[in-house]
Amino acid sequence: MRLFFYIYFMKQLIIINGPNLNLLGKREPEIYGSQTFEDYLEVLKSKYSTVNLDYFQSNIEGELIDKLQEVGFNYDGIILNAAAYTHTSVGIGDAVKAIQTPVVEVHISNTFSREEFRHQSYISPNAKGVILGFGLKSYDLAIESFIF
Ligand code: DQA
Repeated sequence: MRLFFYIYFMKQLIIINGPNLNLLGKREPEIYGSQTFEDYLEVLKSKYSTVNLDYFQSNIEGELIDKLQEVGFNYDGIILNAAAYTHTSVGIGDAVKAIQTPVVEVHISNTFSREEFRHQSYISPNAKGVILGFGLKSYDLAIESFIF
């Protein structure tokens, strides 16, 4: 009974990662670290065992928009690292605005301490909040923003 209660009220969250984040662990480790996201996802799942945590990654803008539309009316929260599309995609920005599920924008690096083109975000104006610069821990903080 208690287990049923628990499962019934578990929050349904999803992490959506954009282009090149499938290369974490190999890609510019001095900026993004040396851990793969698949490995880190296991850490997150065991640390936050009271949430249902889904994961989606794509290098394709339209697939990211399709996923936002698919989950954006029935999930409790979306953790979105749109990667380079953050700085260029009106389409992803519009999708974030169009859906009902709150979106927390996440970045591994502190985009404000990097090139100027990374200071612009099409996600932020419609995000619930923005977490950046804490390495992979940015994802932990985003999950916590939905559960505490
Ligand atoms: C990033 C920052 C973006 O500027 C960059 O294009 C990425 C990753 C981050 O998580 O720090 O691919 O979103």
